Amino acid sequence: MGSTDAVILVGGLGTRLRPLTLSAPKPMLPTAGVPFLTHLIARIRDAGVRHIVLGTSYRAEVFQSYFGDGTALGVELEYVVEDEPLGTGGAIRNVADRLRGDTVMIFNGDVLCGVDLRALLARHHDSAADVTLYLTKVPDPRAFGCVPTDPDGWVTAFLEKDPDPVTDQINAGAYVFKRSVVEAIPAGRAVSVERETFPGLLAAGALVAGYVDSGYWRDLGRPADFVAGSADLVRGLAPSPALPGPAGEALVLAGATVDPAATVTGGTTVGAGCTVGAGAVLDGAVLFDGSRVAEGAVVRRSVVGFGATIGAGTVLEDAVIGDRARIGARIELCGGARVWPDAELTDGAIRFSSDL
Ligand code: GDD
Ligand code: MG
Repeated sequence: MGSTDAVILVGGLGTRLRPLTLSAPKPMLPTAGVPFLTHLIARIRDAGVRHIVLGTSYRAEVFQSYFGDGTALGVELEYVVEDEPLGTGGAIRNVADRLRGDTVMIFNGDVLCGVDLRALLARHHDSAADVTLYLTKVPDPRAFGCVPTDPDGWVTAFLEKDPDPVTDQINAGAYVFKRSVVEAIPAGRAVSVERETFPGLLAAGALVAGYVDSGYWRDLGRPADFVAGSADLVRGLAPSPALPGPAGEALVLAGATVDPAATVTGGTTVGAGCTVGAGAVLDGAVLFDGSRVAEGAVVRRSVVGFGATIGAGTVLEDAVIGDRARIGARIELCGGARVWPDAELTDGAIRFSSDL
């Protein structure tokens, strides 16, 4: 069977999570106290795969300076940098010369899930497929790759971001490839694995198997999902071997100060060095390190960037506040509001909601 390598695709721009992704790539954003990618690397390690190649492009240096050679996590990490983004398929092809075994597990770098990776790998080998896709079912498949299968579990089509999906079964963002399939992807140009490689394999009669799992699954690409995924990690609803165990309603990191008269619930993370004032209400909030929430402020399902400050009595709901932004007192930002890094909103009754 030979050894198995893992490849993680982490080169996307994270556009839907701006402004948080202006300074850090999406997989490096903190979730339950560590960069999101830590949870995925630990899961891959625990499945017995130790050689992991990161396909990077946007802000590539941030990964290497944090994870180094991977020793701290018990893996061997290598980095391959694309000068220009090569797309998902191009990124896979671009790491071909780093692969050592005949089997490759490939992961989107922004998926939080509980699938049994050993079982996925075993299915791939048992079925002698060229490629095996991890599939899951979601209520609204339009934002994903729609992947119907036949009664024997073979994939019959791959329809990326189909506005009128034929099934609620989607590509969950992890695959097992035979190494020869990686090598057959055209080199030196951008390729989408979803729009070009998978449809091309099916048209050519390749054996593409589906492995359907109904356990925890979430793509963290949108603010609402980032916040919900972080809360699920804190509460132990989403599994991660990188955490000591469920923290419960709140995870308060080292050096943070939370006033005893504040209410902190819903899987909130209070980052290192944060301060939270009396009477503040944090519900499903993600406070990045060094941010401050003044007395009586309310933060629900929102992200507060590194070093940002939220004034007294201000209400944030489903909002994203950029690093170091200063939000004054008695302001209301709801329904998808986003504030750019270093912006300043002065005290007052400003009300913003994209729902208005
Ligand atoms: N190296 C590299 N180069 N990585 C890239 C590039 C690139 O040019 N473009 C995207 N990526 C990485 C992203 O960083 C991310 O980890 C992963 O590829 C997927 O990109 P997303 O931008 O998150 O795609 P998506 O969420 O819209 O859709 C993908 O994931 C869904 C499941 O979460 C598709 O694979 C869908 O089919 C799938 O259903
Ligand atoms: Mg995604």
